Amino acid sequence: MRTQVAVVGAGPAGLVLSQLLAAHGIESVVLEHRSRAYVEARVRAGVLEQASVDLLREMRVGQRMDREGLVHHGIELRFEGQAHRVPLTDLAGGRSIMVYGQQEVVKDLIAARLAAGGTLLFEAQATTFLKTNSEHPAVRFVHNGTEEELEADFIAGCDGFHGVSRGAIERTLTVYDKQYPYAWLGILAAVAPSNEELIYVRHERGFALHSMRSPSVTRLYLQVAPDENVAEWSDDRIWSELQARLQTNAGFVLDSGPVLEKGITTMRSYVVEPMHRGRLFLVGDAAHIVPPTGAKGMNLAIADARVLADGLTAFYASGSSDKLDAYSATCLRRVWRAEHFSWWMTTMLHRHPDDPFMDRLGISNLRYIVSSEAAARSLAENYVGLASI
Ligand code: FAD
Ligand code: DHB
Repeated sequence: MRTQVAVVGAGPAGLVLSQLLAAHGIESVVLEHRSRAYVEARVRAGVLEQASVDLLREMRVGQRMDREGLVHHGIELRFEGQAHRVPLTDLAGGRSIMVYGQQEVVKDLIAARLAAGGTLLFEAQATTFLKTNSEHPAVRFVHNGTEEELEADFIAGCDGFHGVSRGAIERTLTVYDKQYPYAWLGILAAVAPSNEELIYVRHERGFALHSMRSPSVTRLYLQVAPDENVAEWSDDRIWSELQARLQTNAGFVLDSGPVLEKGITTMRSYVVEPMHRGRLFLVGDAAHIVPPTGAKGMNLAIADARVLADGLTAFYASGSSDKLDAYSATCLRRVWRAEHFSWWMTTMLHRHPDDPFMDRLGISNLRYIVSSEAAARSLAENYVGLASI
């Protein structure tokens, strides 16, 4: 098989890239390890920054998002029994966020690619990368039990943090890695959200987050130990722990309902530099991950895909590789801003049982944000996504 751009992975990064390339007449083949049903059902991130929303609309895949997504103009911070609203839109130049599940974004993009006649191979697992430093790199993959080879001009490694593309060039990369002494227990529940906006809670018992997916589905998270056994968390235990952490002096009541899904997410900050070698480009989680507090992961993946699509479009239009050469540096400016913001939100809002110094800093920071417009504005503009960095 031969194509112009081989895209490994059908997550937000790979699908946005493939769709943007198609809009410029550039052919790609997307190889996805999992089945279509699996990737369309995988519950992950839920918050789109303004720039991601704008891009999806520009790409004409925003119709369902605009019908079903929830535009939010603020978030709530809760600590010491008090609720404090951060008016994102007022503080961040009119920008807002859209609450719309990652799997819905993925569904919309897959439908658009297939409707446009794009080639997406599901249950096609990339295994080996060949000649990535040449003008004819190739990917070996296994599809329907048979090994096949896809030759291309470029390869985009959009295969997430646990994919294989980063490993193919790892020895040439500098790795920045930080782990956290906590994880999130996340649930999806068939109950209307108990608040119109997201609530980030810093409580003595640990962090909690109240989010949502629709007017009838709530998404909630609890800080737990990194080695927590999900089997030890009955639905009743989860609801009572959430209620305890979300409690306010004003008597907030959390509505509960059937738990549809439960899972543990570990936390890590991780970046490789540079984000490419030769003609293999790493995009999204394949190159960097953030802890989820602040909801940057999916947005970074979409932003990388846009930068790479720009570079490839310029290359095919004029033969110039200037933008491709700048790909890593361009992406890393945004990546490091998001790395800092995610680390800052995470450490501010979580309990550090073995580090009381960090706990005192977290509370101090929260008090500062709710008493200083400058501090709140800094949170708001990072949260909705900085227009330029
Ligand atoms: P992915 O979405 O991971 O897509 C990579 C794709 O590549 C996958 O479909 C995978 O099946 C495929 N693949 C892997 N290996 C191969 C191979 N060898 N061959 C072919 N295909 C392959 N972010 C937030 O902002 N908030 C959250 O609450 C949040 N929760 C998360 C929960 C979990 C469990 C995880 C893993 C991530 C979460 N994230 C969250 C992060 C966010 O989901 C990611 O940043 C985002 O998915 C990155 O998109 P991506 O396209 O780079 O990678
Ligand atoms: C969600 C996840 C996040 O990490 C976050 O900061 C906000 C919302 C969510 O899954 O809805």
